[in-house]
Amino acid sequence: MAAALRADFSQIPVIAIDGPAASGKGTVAQRVAAVLGFHYLDSGSLYRLVGYSALMHGTAWSDEAVLGKLAATLPAEFRGTDILLSGEVVTELIRSEACSNAASRVAAVPSVRAALLNWQRKCRLPPGLVTDGRDMGSVVFPDAALKIFLTASTEARAERRYKQLKEKGINANLLILLRDLAERDTRDASRSLAPLHQCPEAHLLDTTEMAVVDAVDQVIDWFRRLVPCNK
Ligand code: DC
Repeated sequence: MAAALRADFSQIPVIAIDGPAASGKGTVAQRVAAVLGFHYLDSGSLYRLVGYSALMHGTAWSDEAVLGKLAATLPAEFRGTDILLSGEVVTELIRSEACSNAASRVAAVPSVRAALLNWQRKCRLPPGLVTDGRDMGSVVFPDAALKIFLTASTEARAERRYKQLKEKGINANLLILLRDLAERDTRDASRSLAPLHQCPEAHLLDTTEMAVVDAVDQVIDWFRRLVPCNK
């Protein structure tokens, strides 16, 4: 019975979209999930929640045992588009630059990655899952039906982030954003565990000069070619 369940589980299609910070992969992944009627997992939000918890507890980035415990006992809940931690809505809070940097720090800690692995895999539910992050195709769902490496130039990504913050009425400095993005990219790509990289089998999608709608169409087109039964 357990073996049969496992076999079924592996039949659930996954679209794994990995890429650097602020590349727009979350927006594309969410829209693809909506078109296909699939579930959506923003894996970065889990690392952001652990980073936020570590900031709240004043945990040192070197304290692997406590960081791993925070990740393993994360009192998180996803309700529609809301993200809750211990019952408090933190959806916007965890998108701050401080949490972005904290997330990138805790993401390099092996006990944190191990604790979040099962959580992510449990999100593979029928009829399918679209997910974005850094290691979704390489580590979390190596058998994903479709793997995409979605990127854009550092300048384009910093400008998008700058616009987003301005629209929310948050003060930002483009040069500082550019520097922070480059720093996070380097940390995410150079860590020893599950570093950000393009899997050989992943399709490259460079959105520097591409509208979101075209990126979404391209992902759906690739998916339907691979899995033709999905309308
Ligand atoms: O996608 P994001 O910017 O919300 O991710 C925040 C941080 O979490 C990012 O700097 C790297 C880390 N992360 C990761 O290491 N692995 C993932 N699958 C997703 C995010």
